[in-house]
Amino acid sequence: MFITFEGTEGCGKSTLIRNLSTRLQTLGVAHIITREPGGSRTAEEIRKIILNEEMDPLTELFLYEAARAEHFRNTVAPALKQGKWVLCDRFTDSTLAYQGYARGIPLPMIRTLNRIASNRKSPDLTFFLDLPVEIGLARASDPNRFEREGVVFQNKVRKGFLEIARKEKKRFRVIRVSELDPEQVCEKVIRALKSHLRKSL
Ligand code: TMP
Repeated sequence: MFITFEGTEGCGKSTLIRNLSTRLQTLGVAHIITREPGGSRTAEEIRKIILNEEMDPLTELFLYEAARAEHFRNTVAPALKQGKWVLCDRFTDSTLAYQGYARGIPLPMIRTLNRIASNRKSPDLTFFLDLPVEIGLARASDPNRFEREGVVFQNKVRKGFLEIARKEKKRFRVIRVSELDPEQVCEKVIRALKSHLRKSL
């Protein structure tokens, strides 16, 4: 299984991935945790540049895709080949939501680059943790470039994710996290995974 986790800033992805990993370990499911941008040596170097330097939106897009090409080929594909599950914090949908819906780069161009960078591999399931952006931003202690862009930008990102989720109902699971504690979010994800596995048997 290739599972990706998406959301606006401060939505609780990292906590969920940690909790889910613990549950999978108990169940004996071999898996890796990884992230974008990053997840391999060179991609982590690219991450530092993207998150810290000001740049043209097109440069930013190419760097995300470059990091993805590195990460996919060096980390994701080998793990899947070994039969491991891959839990990935952000993937191609983030590029559509941030660089496309929020920054305004045309979506068809991003889709093309996404396909090239990820070798046309689509996640089996994508969880979008939906949280009002004001709550998420209030949680950021050391805001990165994107968090500093504020509520208007983050709302565009959120609307983008919701639009993608509407278009890709089979792959997307939207979880409204504002009234759930981390354990409840993890339970929902596990239930969705079980149901997906039953259906695909
Ligand atoms: P993170 O804070 O969840 O680790 O993500 C890093 C930042 O990168 C976050 O602000 C979202 C942004 N991002 C994009 O803008 N486009 C992308 O394709 C990816 C993967 C992340």
